[in-house]
Formats: sequence, C-alpha cells, structure tokens
Amino acid sequence: MRLDKFICKSTELTRNEAKKLLKSGEVRVNGEVAKNAAMQVHENNSITIDGQELTARTSRYFMLHKVVDSICSNVDEVYPSVLNFIDVDKAFDLHIAGRLDADTTGLVLITDDGRWSHNVISPKKECKKTYRVWLRNAIPADKATELIEHFKQGIQLQGESSLTRPAILELVIDSDIPNEEPNNATNEVLLTITEGKYHQVKRMFAAVGNRVVGLHREQIGAIKLGELAPGEWRSLTEEEVSLFI
Ligand code: URA
Repeated sequence: MRLDKFICKSTELTRNEAKKLLKSGEVRVNGEVAKNAAMQVHENNSITIDGQELTARTSRYFMLHKVVDSICSNVDEVYPSVLNFIDVDKAFDLHIAGRLDADTTGLVLITDDGRWSHNVISPKKECKKTYRVWLRNAIPADKATELIEHFKQGIQLQGESSLTRPAILELVIDSDIPNEEPNNATNEVLLTITEGKYHQVKRMFAAVGNRVVGLHREQIGAIKLGELAPGEWRSLTEEEVSLFI
C-alpha cells in the first residue's frame, strides 16, 4: 500500500494532511525519514510519526440496502453517493464492490479492502449475484421452459462478442393464485448471474424482447440482504467477510 494511504488508514488524517506531514519529515519508515507519498509499505514495516508507531486499522466491510435515486460512485453526481448512507468515519475512503444502477435497489457491499472486492467482482471468480426482476411483459407458463433454457445457454447482448455466461432464471409464481395452465403468466422472476457486464440484467431481458421495470439485488455469493430495511446498513459478520478472503 502507498505510504500516504497507510497513514490515512491508521490515523484520522486526510490524504492531503498525510502528504503535508510527509513533507515535514516527521514520518519514518524502518527508522529512515520518508517523504515519498507513493512509497510502497506493508503492515510489518515500522512506520512512525514523531516517534509514535502506527498500527494499520483493520479493513472495514459493510452491506447497504440501496434505495432508488442513489448512485454507486465515490462522488455525488445527479444523485447522492450510497457512501452518504454509511455513517462511519471517512466513509468516502470506502469503495463499492459491484455497482448497481441509480434505479436499482438492494444489496451493495462496501469495503476498503481492494483484494476482497476483487474477489466479489472479478468475472474469473464467478461469484453469483441474484436479482429479483419485474418485467413489462409477463412470461406465460408455456414459454417458461424455453426461456429458462435460453438464459442457461447464454444470451447474445448487443455490442458483445460472446454470449453471457449460463444464468439461472426462475419464475416467481404466486402460490395463492390457482394454476390456470397454460395461461398462468408472471411478471416477476429471479435471475442469478456470475458476471457484471454494464446494465447486464436489463440488456439480457431486452435481448429477448422484454423490458425490466424493477430491479432489486437480493444476494451476492452467500451474503443475503435479508431483513435490512431500505437505506439501512450494517457491518458484515466475520463469517460473511471470510467468504471472499
Ligand atoms: N444489471 C442491471 O442491468 N442493472 C443493475 O443495476 C445491476 C445489474
């Protein structure tokens, strides 16, 4: 990690304050004065400010129930960043492990551990993400098997050279409504994908002539949003963190 980042992580200082401190010559790495903010250090180096040894804070891991009209970005734009919801010190030093669109709700993982978030988002890791999807056009029961198979075989998205990876499509059928085969149709489905292409879920349904009118992420790997209310957040448990170590 860069020296200025290490200082920020282990003190209350901002990146600019850490850089000023470095210029002042008060920081030593393994006993030597260090002024280069970009110098690479690790936790077993001895890093001192004015003779006081620093210990890096452990990484932080959170989940948030994202609401509509908030954005997965480290800066506020047309809508506020989801990081505004995380009421912790230096929330904007955190980053989002797998973005959602402004109009998508649900589970967002947030951390300052780059290696951990890589394990969540890298396509190579094939981490499953499950979305509840509401569609403009209901899927009739007699078309379901064909569509499920199509999603499993892969969808050709516009502008992509290869098919999407096998996805699991499940129809959500309201069990209170008596089954009126073959016309029993549903607008609500669950979709599990292992990639995170730009607007992937919306584009997958567009490619089969449908349109997503509501999108909500319920699960990432084995981490479930559960009962967390919209706009609420919590720290991940040790067990949840360990899933992506
Ligand atoms: N796919 C989308 O189209 N949008 C999201 O927000 C997430 C997945």
